Amino acid sequence: MSRSMTPFFVSVFLLGLSSVATAKKLTRLVYEWPDKMDCEWPSKATRTRALSDEISIEPHFMAVYRTRIFFVLKKYPEDTPAKVVVSLPKSSGSSEPPRPNPFPSLDMYEFGNCQKIEEPSGLAVDSLGRLWVLDRGSSKCNSKILTIDLRNHDQTKVIHQFSFHDWIHDLVLDETNNGTFAYITRWDEQCLVVFCLERNESWIVETPKVQSFAIALSPKYHEPRQLYIGIYSHVFGEWNSNELLSISVAALRNGTRTAYPKLIANLTGEPYRMVVDNRGTMYAGFFNKNYISSWNGSQPFQEQRYFEVARLDSYWPFTFSKDQSGNIWIMAFNENKAETRFRLLKVTVGAEQFWDPACCTCTCLSSP
Ligand SMILES: *[C@@H]1O[C@H](CO)[C@@H](O)[C@H](O)[C@H]1NC(C)=O
Ligand SMILES: *[C@@H]1O[C@H](CO)[C@@H](O)[C@H](O)[C@H]1NC(C)=O
Ligand SMILES: *[C@@H]1O[C@H](CO)[C@@H](O)[C@H](O)[C@H]1NC(C)=O
Ligand SMILES: *[C@@H]1O[C@H](CO)[C@@H](O)[C@H](O)[C@H]1NC(C)=O
Ligand SMILES: *[C@@H]1O[C@H](CO)[C@@H](O)[C@H](O)[C@H]1NC(C)=O
Repeated sequence: MSRSMTPFFVSVFLLGLSSVATAKKLTRLVYEWPDKMDCEWPSKATRTRALSDEISIEPHFMAVYRTRIFFVLKKYPEDTPAKVVVSLPKSSGSSEPPRPNPFPSLDMYEFGNCQKIEEPSGLAVDSLGRLWVLDRGSSKCNSKILTIDLRNHDQTKVIHQFSFHDWIHDLVLDETNNGTFAYITRWDEQCLVVFCLERNESWIVETPKVQSFAIALSPKYHEPRQLYIGIYSHVFGEWNSNELLSISVAALRNGTRTAYPKLIANLTGEPYRMVVDNRGTMYAGFFNKNYISSWNGSQPFQEQRYFEVARLDSYWPFTFSKDQSGNIWIMAFNENKAETRFRLLKVTVGAEQFWDPACCTCTCLSSP
């Protein structure tokens, strides 16, 4: 049986998943990298060190578009490039896991070159198939936004430069009739950054006492959309960092310069990644926790276990994203050498028929 046909129950036992299986959810192991994840590195020496465990690599952020998955690979120690965006095919004919390679190519990365990618962070794909990449910048170059046109030979363009550099984290896109806005978090500041594409303008929105880190945006069909915010407290540690807050984007689109996010609830952990799917369900991953929680945003707040693994030994254990069809893609990362290091999983929603025992074991699994 090929990797692409691995039935669900196999991945359940592999992972020791619990409370994951509901009648409506199918979780499938797409790839696993039992030990190392090879990649095209800037030098042979770096590659040797990466493969010999001298430097460790971590997956962060994620975006999915058509047949491809993008995420950021961060490696230690910080020789350049310390982080690269990599791409993977959603499926592969081979039983070997694919090699995630620098995207669009390694020569697009250069520290200190303001026209290239210096240190990528948040990723998002817009409706025109452009991958937006936030770039932290350096002491030489301010933070910036690049787009990579996934429908047009992955053409790369710097579309905006901010008036600051460093500590930029994640972004979400809000495409409206009045323009495309990006809402951006900076983890050392009590503010959000708003960027308007058509005007090529960005501005700071002060959010007193709220140092935003993880962000997610409620679906388009329900105006005004809500921006969900998770706080980062490591710098000062003054605030309860398990708080989930929200703010209406109406004010952000309007050009307001001060906003007061309101508290929704306390989560069970400190979120570093949040995503909202097309149905309005929010997913949150937490530092040092072996699960991802979900909450149906149309209902009063209630945190539910969405995805869980028996053991995971990592500070940033998952990164995940939705795709255009409403599936959730999860990269699980384990620092523990004795365990499988990286796994890519796909959670398909609304697939009751897959649980029909009369149904064949393989052919009724949807292809990725
Ligand atoms: C957008 O603004 C940035 C700086 O604010 C500038 O560097 C860039 O050239 C502008 N881009 C376009 C397409 O006008
Ligand atoms: C677009 O702008 C108009 C006029 O300012 C406003 O009435 C409308 O609500 C805006 N639409 C969105 C989606 O923000
Ligand atoms: C947005 O701006 C319009 C016009 O200036 C104003 O009427 C409206 O109250 C503002 N909305 C918010 C949410 O600030
Ligand atoms: C959240 O936790 C803080 C600190 O533990 C507590 O003071 C606050 O009342 C809680 N808020 C909610 C909405 O539960
Ligand atoms: C979320 O809750 C709403 C309102 O109760 C319900 O209609 C909807 O089906 C729920 N969504 C999911 C994905 O369960």
